[in-house]
Amino acid sequence: MSDSETQPDLSGADLPTDDDGEDTLGRRLFVRLAMTGAGACYAAAIGYPVFRYLASPAEKAMAASAVTEISLPRADQLPIGTAMMFKFGSNPTMLIHHKDGSWTALDAVCTHLGCTTQYQPERDVIHCFCHGGEYNAYTGANISGPPPRPLKKFAVKVSEGSVLVSRA
Ligand code: FES
Repeated sequence: MSDSETQPDLSGADLPTDDDGEDTLGRRLFVRLAMTGAGACYAAAIGYPVFRYLASPAEKAMAASAVTEISLPRADQLPIGTAMMFKFGSNPTMLIHHKDGSWTALDAVCTHLGCTTQYQPERDVIHCFCHGGEYNAYTGANISGPPPRPLKKFAVKVSEGSVLVSRA
């Protein structure tokens, strides 16, 4: 038995070649790997947003319930008659410094279809631009429009240098 019968030929001399004598097996392998990689990237690009969309309600509920209070540094400097938005867990929330000097923190998510509401200082109401729902800016109670429930109200504690907002 000779060496050529027992040892595989690794020289590449017997690999298929194209008309130019190039190694077509290497090209095929490269193209196959490139297509597999591109397919994996495409699947991830499609699948990840779908996964996030499906997982988000449960994650949002967990994140929202995990947070019980939040400190807003320098929010005590909020000018009278204005409001600021912040996140309480994953929910947009608004802190209002009313013209009479009082403070209110309300969940800013409209109870109708979930649009983010806005404070209208000239009328001192919370307004939803999606379908015209309005809420009392002090209590979150419904004033008009289609929203079925009031906005959730939070407890507010103002101190030197910060405002603490917590579940009421
Ligand atoms: S979503 Fe706010 S009124 Fe419809």
